[in-house]
Amino acid sequence: MLKKFYIKTFGCQMNEYDSDKISDLMQSVNFVRSETLEDVDCIIFNTCHIREKATEKVYSDIGKIKKLNRSKKKPIFVLAGCIAQAQGEEIFKRTNYVDIVVGPQSYHRLPEQIKNFAERKENFSDTNFELIEKFDTLDNLKSSRKSKTSEFLTIQEGCDKFCSFCVVPYTRGAEFSRSFNSIINEAKKLSDNGVREIVLLGQNVSAYKFIDGNKTYKLANLIDEISKINSIYRIRFTTSHPNDMDQELIEAFKYQKKLMPQLHLPIQSGSNKILKLMNRKHTREYYLDLIARFKEANSKIEFSSDFIIGFPGEEEQDFQDTLDIINKVNFINSYSFIYSQRPGTPAVDRDQILLDICKDRLMKLQTLLGDIQINNSKKLIGKKIEVLVENKTKTVGQFFGRSKFMHSIFFNSENSNPGDLVDIEITSYNSKNLFGILQKEEVLV
Ligand code: SAH
Ligand code: SF4
Ligand code: F3S
Repeated sequence: MLKKFYIKTFGCQMNEYDSDKISDLMQSVNFVRSETLEDVDCIIFNTCHIREKATEKVYSDIGKIKKLNRSKKKPIFVLAGCIAQAQGEEIFKRTNYVDIVVGPQSYHRLPEQIKNFAERKENFSDTNFELIEKFDTLDNLKSSRKSKTSEFLTIQEGCDKFCSFCVVPYTRGAEFSRSFNSIINEAKKLSDNGVREIVLLGQNVSAYKFIDGNKTYKLANLIDEISKINSIYRIRFTTSHPNDMDQELIEAFKYQKKLMPQLHLPIQSGSNKILKLMNRKHTREYYLDLIARFKEANSKIEFSSDFIIGFPGEEEQDFQDTLDIINKVNFINSYSFIYSQRPGTPAVDRDQILLDICKDRLMKLQTLLGDIQINNSKKLIGKKIEVLVENKTKTVGQFFGRSKFMHSIFFNSENSNPGDLVDIEITSYNSKNLFGILQKEEVLV
């Protein structure tokens, strides 16, 4: 008998990738995915612990489900992901609704854990780091999911950097790189399923390093090999750390036409004093020099970043340094967050900046990022740009796709298909998106 499960994903792209794999695992033991909570036998939350708000949201959502389901038979509730890793058995003390706790490096055992729970009704927590076993299991897994035009592919997990604000080294563990061959096999499978863009994922994707005998494979080698797959048109990777960029990778932006000229390269702060307190191990000068080296390889490349505002010790001058670096690099599509104290991280006990000051700085920074974005969009009006079509929208005759630089583009067309590469003339924009019309090939009769 088929059973139904529901999965909700919180957090980053890697959690999205993991949720897809968890769905494949569940389907391999006769569970079908349900898009609603109605009459499900199992609920899985794949969670994020990066900021306090992310963690609180998960507990509040668990509370809502508990209320909603009060009169019904309780489904098996699985708490997976980074909160599971960080809090382990503590979760059972905080809420009696959770049955199974499973960390990001042991979720491949979920089918067996669910079976055990159904038989014994005993709470269970598995937060072991079993990366080799996990990827071996996932490599042999069949998937009946329909692929999207653009799909993620995890190549590396974990982090050895220990930025003083960040939980990731504790929730995902030490840096681990998957085998070169298993990644290439997965890329080929994706292309066979209609995927046209692959986004290589890792917490420190540029630290990818796999040694096979006397050959060492780095990220640039992966990009070269995936580029040979004919039906893959575009390759991207995220997230990179400025300290892991080698010359081969920089050069890849010059010679590898399928590698998109867009790079997410978080700097977090523009102040050397703050970067040091954050244990980032790079300076603003190093970062700006790196940007110049990328621009030398490919003058078209655009950059985006993450910024943390109000890190303990941030004074007005440090904040001005951050605004200054934003002006210098001209970042597009960036993310910014107010610093959140995380349990177990080195910065947790430091003196906090007043929330009002943080909010004021965040607003100023987001206004600057927004202005830069609008200026960039303005320059594209009337230009023809290449778009990879991702889907049809709910509006009649409208489709959605992305430019090489990751702009979100809505365009009108009588008929386009996901996976098509089309030319779009940009006609307007708003703060987040570009709008345009399809340029038809001239048909000569
Ligand atoms: N591995 C990536 C992403 C880490 S998490 C990297 O090194 O950049 C994504 C972003 O969340 C980080 O870049 C950082 O800007 C933000 N972040 C992490 N910890 C945070 C904290 N304690 N408070 C606020 N933002 C945080
Ligand atoms: Fe977190 Fe820093 Fe590692 Fe990124 S590099 S995951 S911010 S510790
Ligand atoms: Fe969140 Fe874990 Fe990703 S803490 S950002 S889900 S690595």
